[in-house]
Amino acid sequence: MEIKKVGVVGCGVMGSGITQLCAQSGYQVVVSEINDELLNRGLASIEKILARSVEKGRISQQDKDATLGRIKGTTNTKDFSDCDLIIEVAIENMDLKKKIFAELDEICPKHAILATNSSVLSIIDMAVSTKRPDKVLGMHFFNPAPIMKLLEIVRTIATSDETIEVCKEFGKSVGKTAVIAQDKPGFIVNRLWIPYMLHAVSLLEDGVASRDDIDAAVTAGLNYPMGPLTLVDLTGLDVLLFVADAMYEQLKDPRYIAPTLLKKMVTAGWLGRKAGKGFYEYK
Ligand SMILES: NC(=O)c1ccc[n+]([C@@H]2O[C@H](COP(=O)([O-])OP(=O)(O)OC[C@H]3O[C@@H](n4cnc5c(N)ncnc54)[C@H](O)[C@@H]3O)[C@@H](O)[C@H]2O)c1
Repeated sequence: MEIKKVGVVGCGVMGSGITQLCAQSGYQVVVSEINDELLNRGLASIEKILARSVEKGRISQQDKDATLGRIKGTTNTKDFSDCDLIIEVAIENMDLKKKIFAELDEICPKHAILATNSSVLSIIDMAVSTKRPDKVLGMHFFNPAPIMKLLEIVRTIATSDETIEVCKEFGKSVGKTAVIAQDKPGFIVNRLWIPYMLHAVSLLEDGVASRDDIDAAVTAGLNYPMGPLTLVDLTGLDVLLFVADAMYEQLKDPRYIAPTLLKKMVTAGWLGRKAGKGFYEYK
């Protein structure tokens, strides 16, 4: 099966990035939002990023115009009726995702593949709200989607080999390194990364070392590009807590228990870079 037209449900942080990535890779893209205001905000963020790329000489004005020309924004789900692949990128809420999948199943062509960008939810639960569970899978992009190289392709017990193959090829066509993971909480990256980040917060909480020394030790000693506490600030402390809690709830593995310090900082509204304060302060 050849993918020509891609649908993206949700034009927030990830949805706008995935829309940009697919359009820049030559696909026609339909992207939806719940209202015009959010749609315009998402489309404007894509325009702004492309304009900056033109200024920096990374792409030409012509490339920018052609990319934007391939994107159609909508608030009407019926506009997905001729898409070959639809990627759901709405908020991380199972009831909402099930509703979106059931609706897409009614609207989209029979051959269409339905994917979710969910980070922690069970994908088979979404698949069974459709009549095509063999064509449902996870396509987990990383933020920012146009830049980060990895795509985790997540297979449920019902996903067909053909669906996986088509999506692997699609991943390559948008320049990603596609890896396959099973439909188990956290897939590959969050399974490894969440305990690491939580552990860094615990080191600080336990007084093992200062914030600056934890970050300096990891950058200089492990050659990581960024220290873990800087990275938590960038990701958002609330996002880390949400994912850790969701993984602990499903796995009951103590490695995913969030330290008290993380919970208190989230309560205080110290969510990291986006809030102006996290482990560090931002102007
Ligand atoms: N932010 C990240 O770093 C990241 C990374 C990987 C995966 N994810 C996953 O991607 C998904 C989206 O995350 P995000 O950070 O982009 O969230 P976000 O809040 O920035 O965007 C979600 C958007 O979906 C829209 N939406 C909700 N219901 C909709 C509907 N029925 N139709 C169309 N649009 C709808 C919302 O209005 C919102 O703008 C989540 O499942 C999240 O877990 C996020």
